[in-house]
Amino acid sequence: MGACPNGILPADRAVTGRFITLEGGEGVGKSTQIRAVAAAIEARGIETLATREPGGSAGAEAIRTLLMEGSDDRWDARSEALLFAAARADHVARTIRPALERGAWVLCDRFIDSSRAYQGGGGGITDSDILTLHGFGSNGLLPDRTFLLTVSADEAARRLIERGGSDRMGNKPADYQARLAARFVEMAKGEPARWRIVDADATATAVTAAILAELAEWL
Ligand SMILES: Nc1ncnc2c1ncn2[C@@H]1O[C@H](COP(=O)(O)OP(=O)(O)OP(=O)(O)O)[C@@H](O)[C@H]1O
Ligand SMILES: [Mg+2]
Repeated sequence: MGACPNGILPADRAVTGRFITLEGGEGVGKSTQIRAVAAAIEARGIETLATREPGGSAGAEAIRTLLMEGSDDRWDARSEALLFAAARADHVARTIRPALERGAWVLCDRFIDSSRAYQGGGGGITDSDILTLHGFGSNGLLPDRTFLLTVSADEAARRLIERGGSDRMGNKPADYQARLAARFVEMAKGEPARWRIVDADATATAVTAAILAELAEWL
């Protein structure tokens, strides 16, 4: 496990399973890859749990509804950051940590790094604030490996149209999406032992193979 960038200790879990997260902007193929990678790992006889944020436990799904529905300005930045941290804390306590402790691999569609990219830096909230909330809420649990899926802006737009629409979180202008993409790359480069950047303009099959290649050491 990587060290938490603000010095929060990695989680005090009994490590047997592996915790893998997929990150990136909207429409890069995270959900597609979670399904494909989970199927590939399961086919090797390993218990695999595919989950997503916000959500992944009963309490966190209830918070998800609060976050995803309603107008753009439904929450001020600080309340929103706290809601994400609370949802993540419940998800970790009720779903992720128990699965890791029984030796399962957990594949999560977005995790703390999405909060760092989306909630950090806006409304006067710093990266360190987000990580402090994570330290309290989720004992600073960090993934063993995080994949950043990157696509060209044109390809992201094409996939979103194909998939049909956006939600409250994705309903933002193009320059916002570009800043977000740059922020993800910055985080990945800042913590290279944990992150792998995957070119997700490739076919879904090729992207799955690239991800599995970066997990081969544990399989
Ligand atoms: N490698 C690929 N090549 C072409 N199309 C793809 C690829 N991966 C995913 N798609 C398609 O792009 C669309 C978006 O993919 P997906 O829902 O997996 O993205 P996402 O990252 O989960 O998006 P969001 O963050 O909005 O949930 C879907 O229609 C999916 O079938
Ligand atoms: Mg998705």
